Amino acid sequence: MGWHTIGLISDFNEGCQWQVEAGDRPVALFKFEGKFYAMKNSCLHQGFPLAEGNVKNYMVECPLHGWVYDFRDGKCLSTPGRCTKSYKVRINGENLEINMEEKG
Ligand code: FES
Repeated sequence: MGWHTIGLISDFNEGCQWQVEAGDRPVALFKFEGKFYAMKNSCLHQGFPLAEGNVKNYMVECPLHGWVYDFRDGKCLSTPGRCTKSYKVRINGENLEINMEEKG
């Protein structure tokens, strides 16, 4: 699978969130306090896209029924013990890249 180029870093502003495609799969991408975070763009509850969620600190809240996730590691804070996939993000030259192998 490896690294997938998402776009130019200059296109991603601080404090924003996006739905992007990496390896033909939808990913929720967040930029928070200067760093990028990526996770599967699907709520564990009923699959709502988390890129449309409400962000506060390092958490995103699914707007449909309010499940909350830590986008640093994909942990679902509303259902202890459950976790969604999160992915590594890196800056390579002027590009932003996501690795679709699950974070270790
Ligand atoms: S679909 Fe996300 S909380 Fe229900």
